[in-house]
Amino acid sequence: MDQTITSVDDLQRLAKRRVPSLFYDYVNSGSWTESTYRRNGEDLARLLFRQRVGVNIAGIDTSSAILGMRAAMPLVLAPAGLTGMLHPDGEILAARAAARIGVPYVLSTVSICSIEDLAAHTKQPFWFQLYIMKDRGFIERLIDRAKAAKCSALVLTMDLPIQGLRYKDIRNGLSVPPRITLSTLAAMISRPRWCAAMLRTQRRTFGNIVGHAEGASDTMRFSEWVGKQFDRTVTWDDVRWIKQRWGGKLVVKGIMDAYDAEEALKAGADAIVVSNHGGRQLDGAPSSISALPGIAAVVAGRAEVLVDGGIRSGQDILRALALGADNVMIGRAYLYGLGAGGEAGVMQCLDIMSRELEATMALCGLTNVRQAGPGTLVNPDFVAPYGGNLR
Ligand SMILES: Cc1cc2nc3c(=O)[nH]c(=O)nc-3n(C[C@H](O)[C@H](O)[C@H](O)COP(=O)(O)O)c2cc1C
Repeated sequence: MDQTITSVDDLQRLAKRRVPSLFYDYVNSGSWTESTYRRNGEDLARLLFRQRVGVNIAGIDTSSAILGMRAAMPLVLAPAGLTGMLHPDGEILAARAAARIGVPYVLSTVSICSIEDLAAHTKQPFWFQLYIMKDRGFIERLIDRAKAAKCSALVLTMDLPIQGLRYKDIRNGLSVPPRITLSTLAAMISRPRWCAAMLRTQRRTFGNIVGHAEGASDTMRFSEWVGKQFDRTVTWDDVRWIKQRWGGKLVVKGIMDAYDAEEALKAGADAIVVSNHGGRQLDGAPSSISALPGIAAVVAGRAEVLVDGGIRSGQDILRALALGADNVMIGRAYLYGLGAGGEAGVMQCLDIMSRELEATMALCGLTNVRQAGPGTLVNPDFVAPYGGNLR
C-alpha cells in the first residue's frame, strides 16, 4: 500500500488532482445549498464510541452476509452514474476491485459501461440499479438484460422522480460525453493522464441507454435528458410490477421515512436502503444516519436494512451498524479511490476501510459485526430518533 495514502481523505485529495474538475465536482457535491450532503457526514461524526478493555478480541471477523451472500465486509459499492467518466472503464475497474475484496458492486442505469459489457469483463455477478423511466418497454428490456447478465439483485431507486437541483453541474455544463467548450476543454487538458486514457477507451457515453432507448442521442446534457425521461408518476404499484417482472432479490433504495419503508415491504422488497442519495436530491432533508434507527425499528427484521450517505471510514460503517443497519453502501469513498488510482485505488479504499473497521471493533471489544448495537456507542440517542411516522 502507498504509505502516503492512509485514509479516504487522502484518496479524495489525489482524485481531485487527477480527475477533470467538472467530473470531480459531479461527485463532490450535493444539491442546492448542499446542507443535507454536509449533514450526512456531520451527524455520523457526532456518534461516539464506547471504549472497552479486557475483552478477548482474538479472531476478530469483519465479514457479513448481504442478501444471503457472504461478503468480506458489511459493505456494498453503491450505484453511481457516470463512473466511467471519473476513470476510463471505471465501472469495470470498480467491479473487479469489489470482486477481489469480496463485496457486491451495483451498476447504475446511467453508467458508461453497459450491463453486457460489464458482464463480459468480470467474473463475479454484480447487482443492477434501475431508475424507472417513461418508456416502460425500455424498462422491461433493461430488466430482461439484467436477468440475462445474471445480476444477483435489482436495486430500484425511488428518490429520483425528478433530478435534485444540482447547481454545480449546471454551472459546469456537465454532459456525456463532455461537450467541448472553452471551460470543459481547459478542465480536461489540465489532466493529461485522464485524457490519454480516455482516448484509449471506446466507453464514453451512456452504455445502457444509447442505442437502446428512443430519443437517447449520443451527446446528452444529463440534466435535460433526465428531465425528459424520468417518470414523475411512479408509485408503489410500479414497484410491485417490477418485483414481479424481475422475480429475484429486490432492494428498494431512497427510503427516508418509516411509512415508505412499510410500503416498500408491502411491495415485496427484500431489502431497503435508507438513503437521501448522498444529499443529491432533497436538500434540507435530515441525514440518513438520523433516519436509520426509527426505520430499522419499524422494519424489525422483516427485510434487510442498508444505509448510505457520508460513510467515509470503517468507523462510519460501525456507527451505522450500531444504529440498526445490517450493512452499508458507500458511494463517494470508492469513487475517490477510482479517480485516484483506478482498480488499485478502489481496492486501497476498501482496504483502508476494512482496517479501520477492524481496529475500531477491537477497541470497542467486538469480534463480530453482528455484535454492534446501541451499546457500541456512548450517545446512540443524539439524533432525536427520526424515522417519520406511520401516518
Ligand atoms: C457521483 C454519484 C453518482 C450517483 N449516481 C447514482 C445512480 O446512478 N443511481 C443511484 O441509485 N444512486 C446514485 N448515487 C447515489 C449513491 O448510490 C449513494 O446513495 C450515495 O453516493 C451515498 O452517499 P455517499 O456518496 O456519501 O457515500 C450517486 C452518487 C454519486 C456521488
